[in-house]
Amino acid sequence: MRIIIVLCIIGALWAKCGYAQIYKDKTAAVEARVEDLLHQMTLEEKIDYIGGYRDFYIRGIERLGVPALKLTDGPLGAHKDGKAIAYPAGVLTASTWNRSLVYELGKQLGRDAKARGAHILLGPAVNIIRSPLCGRNFEYFTEDPYLNSQIAVAYVRGVQDQHVVATLKHFVANNQEWDRHNANSHIDERTLHEIYLPVYRDAIRKAEVGAVMDGYNIVNGVHVTQSDELNNQLLKKRWGFQGMVMSDWGATYNAIEAANGGLDLEMPQAVCMNRANLLPALQAGHVKMATIDDKVRRILRIMFRFGFYDNAQSDASVPYDNPAGREVALKLAQEGIVLLKNERNLLPLDRSKVKSVAVIGPNANSYVAGGGSSYTFPFHSTNVLDGLKDKFRDVEFYYASGIAGHWDAVEKSLFYTSAEGGERGLVGEYYDNTRLAGRPVETKVDTIICIQNGWHVASLEKGPPFDHCSIRWRGIIRPPKSADYLFTVRGFDGFRLRIDSETVIDAWKEQGITTKESILFLEAGRAYSVVLEYFADCHPVDISLGWRENRVSFDEAVQIAGKADVAVINVGLNESLERESNDRDFGLPAYQDSLIQAVSAVNKRTIVLVNAGGNIDMNRWVDQVPALLYLWYPGQEGGKAVADILSGDINPSAKLPVSFEYKWEDNPAFPYYHDTDGDKEVEYKEGLFLGYRYYDSAKVKPRFPFGYGLSYTRFEYADLMVRQEESDTDVEVSFTISNVGLWDGSEVAQLYIRPMHPFVSRPYKELKGFEKIFIPKGQKRRVSMSLDKESFSYYKVDKKQYGYDSGLYEILIGTSSEDIVLSKVIEISAERDSE
Ligand code: BGC
Repeated sequence: MRIIIVLCIIGALWAKCGYAQIYKDKTAAVEARVEDLLHQMTLEEKIDYIGGYRDFYIRGIERLGVPALKLTDGPLGAHKDGKAIAYPAGVLTASTWNRSLVYELGKQLGRDAKARGAHILLGPAVNIIRSPLCGRNFEYFTEDPYLNSQIAVAYVRGVQDQHVVATLKHFVANNQEWDRHNANSHIDERTLHEIYLPVYRDAIRKAEVGAVMDGYNIVNGVHVTQSDELNNQLLKKRWGFQGMVMSDWGATYNAIEAANGGLDLEMPQAVCMNRANLLPALQAGHVKMATIDDKVRRILRIMFRFGFYDNAQSDASVPYDNPAGREVALKLAQEGIVLLKNERNLLPLDRSKVKSVAVIGPNANSYVAGGGSSYTFPFHSTNVLDGLKDKFRDVEFYYASGIAGHWDAVEKSLFYTSAEGGERGLVGEYYDNTRLAGRPVETKVDTIICIQNGWHVASLEKGPPFDHCSIRWRGIIRPPKSADYLFTVRGFDGFRLRIDSETVIDAWKEQGITTKESILFLEAGRAYSVVLEYFADCHPVDISLGWRENRVSFDEAVQIAGKADVAVINVGLNESLERESNDRDFGLPAYQDSLIQAVSAVNKRTIVLVNAGGNIDMNRWVDQVPALLYLWYPGQEGGKAVADILSGDINPSAKLPVSFEYKWEDNPAFPYYHDTDGDKEVEYKEGLFLGYRYYDSAKVKPRFPFGYGLSYTRFEYADLMVRQEESDTDVEVSFTISNVGLWDGSEVAQLYIRPMHPFVSRPYKELKGFEKIFIPKGQKRRVSMSLDKESFSYYKVDKKQYGYDSGLYEILIGTSSEDIVLSKVIEISAERDSE
């Protein structure tokens, strides 16, 4: 500390006298450079510095040669500049249980960020999965704090080793999307410390994460962006976090509270922490100068620590469509797709017997991902249908969507420019502003209304040559018969649809990808006028319109399933149904349950593939189908990975990072998740007993437990040895796994600890170690894991410390949380605090 003060004084003197400036000296210590630069900034510059600008930047200071810092979303692709490698969902990443592969993911995301000159990546997203309904579960990792930390630490290290700052988000307990600005999560201290906080502590201590993003939500009565207790006392003081705390986009609600509550950077711009609010607050003594200095210091520290001041961030040697990233995206999908059912060894498919495959389902022939700010447009992607066709070249394929999806309708929709013999298509008027104001800069006929990520899909031409724009399409439709018709519009940002003079869809606001539907009865042969209006403000142009008769018929799907050797149905959610700022239903989208029932009734060799960020209701069909794979959202290479697994080229090795309940009502958060009385208070009354921590001692059991996943081979466990070192919490655990099946494969062995006679209420057992290990068929491997005092600890509320108690502990080795295959009891003699 003294050294810093001396350096500061010297720095300030030098600067005043016009001598060499320490902050410019690459060889000087980071802290000295920070202090020197801080002292050269004016008060106004300091205040301006702690508010973002241009949506995804921290401003530069030209006078001092300080570069602007660029941020990018995160966490599944570095995509703020347009197309990027679209990696699989976070929950799939956790399903790999493979730390080194997750490190590789971080590394490639870091490289993708550098290719785009981005300094800060907005990921990983590490909120605990508390309920299957949270619209962002697909971005998150798991229900378990230990697995969460292990995956997050590997991800952060990977990103930051590339000199890109990783951002842990969304601090903390942002476990639902419903009313995310106003929901107040009531969580007791112990639960907060044992379940929701460990990932932040570990990423700070073990990976020195550079940034933390405060969520929109309220925890125990205080918005996180203004929580002195969470940001200042815990994160910064107790855990020694040296990086910066930024707000989520628009999550700052009060200048003085946020400034004093430990928020260092308001994003995307200084709506609260600006000159107008902070200068008078400083003068009146409501905010101290030292508080502002600390914020600036934290951002500058990142700039010097990561080399942003000394080096240009753009790395032209990394291609935008980075091949190494594509490989990691594929590897993750191969290792993260979970095989949940495989009766009679239907899988892998026997190539000598399978001559025809029926591929069915609305998700099988398109790129499927979760929506919101993580949504990444890939340069190219392989869907399930194409992946399978490419793998099984000599097999005959049939395809039927079963339930016509939006894209089918878009492709087949017929429009005409006018009622009297006009040409095919709608007349599009393109405006260079977002208000449809003035004269259109271009007018042309579009036969298909579909622009995706700035490109006209039909003509493969680049869309409007400007970013902030609006478009109006006009024309008519002529229904072939009198019936109900379904209109669907899907777009980034605002759109509205008029049929004749009635507005049937109105979503005129800035928003992530959204799909809206409307059903209308139309008469045969009549001309109905259509007007679609659209604006794009914060995303590249992305808009599509389709209409079709509102009729569901499984006839074609059933017919192709009936004649094929195998039926593959890909159902589930998508970017409109599962995304941030919305929670979702537990059920599959309309008619999908019935589609699976209809198809599996005619083909006993039906394989179901599900896209979702968490569990969904399977009750109506799961016992009827022999094979089930959970794809989550498998990223741009997903279709290839599915084909690799179905063909047996890859032996599945993923395990669930979250328990799958039979029904939503079984979930311990069920009674408290919804704010039934509208008071916006969300009680976490299940406390520590979340996921397997609950099912272990509850009467209900999950359908598929935490840690569960099948392989094509079989593993046997034996010879457990447990060796305690002098300090009896340092424990070496080893055992042998033999691959006794017919396939080479990887196994995820899990270590749980059970306190046998706990002094306080504790979960029956908790995950404290795991290893993923590849074992060729017929061979065996010795697996070792180490435990330390943290492994036995819990949060002692009276001491406000983690610590452990003396007593007997059972070491449990399992293939899942429900299948414990080896165990041994040890004694811990001393009682200690561990933090
Ligand atoms: C999300 C963040 C994201 C930010 C910037 C917010 O709506 O919650 O996760 O990083 O937008 O896109």
